Amino acid sequence: MNTVLVIGASRGIGLELVRQYREAGDRVIATARDDAGLATLRNLGAQALRVDVADPASVSGFSWLLDGEKLDVAWYVAGVGDRATTASPPTREKFDQLMHTNAMGPMMVLPQIAPMLAERAGVFAAISSHFGSFALTETGMAALYRMSKTALNMYIRCAQHDFPEVTCLALHPGWVQTEMGGPQAPTSVAQSVASLRSTVTRAPSTPAWRGAFLNHDGTPLPW
Ligand SMILES: NC(=O)c1ccc[n+]([C@@H]2O[C@H](COP(=O)([O-])OP(=O)(O)OC[C@H]3O[C@@H](n4cnc5c(N)ncnc54)[C@H](OP(=O)(O)O)[C@@H]3O)[C@@H](O)[C@H]2O)c1
Repeated sequence: MNTVLVIGASRGIGLELVRQYREAGDRVIATARDDAGLATLRNLGAQALRVDVADPASVSGFSWLLDGEKLDVAWYVAGVGDRATTASPPTREKFDQLMHTNAMGPMMVLPQIAPMLAERAGVFAAISSHFGSFALTETGMAALYRMSKTALNMYIRCAQHDFPEVTCLALHPGWVQTEMGGPQAPTSVAQSVASLRSTVTRAPSTPAWRGAFLNHDGTPLPW
């Protein structure tokens, strides 16, 4: 039985990760921001913690909530989207919300939990997006969201050097049927999460994936 942490698990990909790991018999610690999300996680048999990754007061004390844990896998799933192009300047609030949630959150979390992951030679799996790839960018749509995921990808690349006992990954989940992905997305949340879990299970024995940017199925993506 592994111990798995899922950050940003109230709905969508995070909630499905909790569901599938619990179904597989793993111990799951998961976070949400509100009472309804926490209750949903407890109903699935997860240990539920209240964390807002964009609130420094909340996220900076995260390791206290996890005191003494050893972690096999930690998923950073929390994310917010925005479809605006560069033609419309973002408000400062929008810029801060996306950058804090998508890029600064992982920077706050990983240093706190790296010792817990190192105890198990574990994996830090951050849900990124192919929108964070320079090479795959052919439109200005979702410019700020792309910037936040590019920043996340660079963080993972750097963090791999600083936390060598942990495998650090940036993973694209596919275009997935969630509130963010919309109902027209081709991939169900169950399919995406099954593929992501399989890749992360193989990661510690795949040295080429250390600090990598991968599709959900393990295919390398261009930076
Ligand atoms: N769906 C896709 O097609 C797709 C494609 C590429 C990448 N992704 C990435 O996949 C990840 C999960 O997205 P999803 O599709 O599952 O979206 P979703 O259904 O909109 O879920 C987003 C999750 O992030 C949480 N969250 C947002 N801000 C947070 C904060 N400040 N603190 C803590 N949690 C916060 C939400 O919690 P609340 O319920 O409290 O708001 C929710 O649990 C995101 O990082 C997203 O960028 C998704």
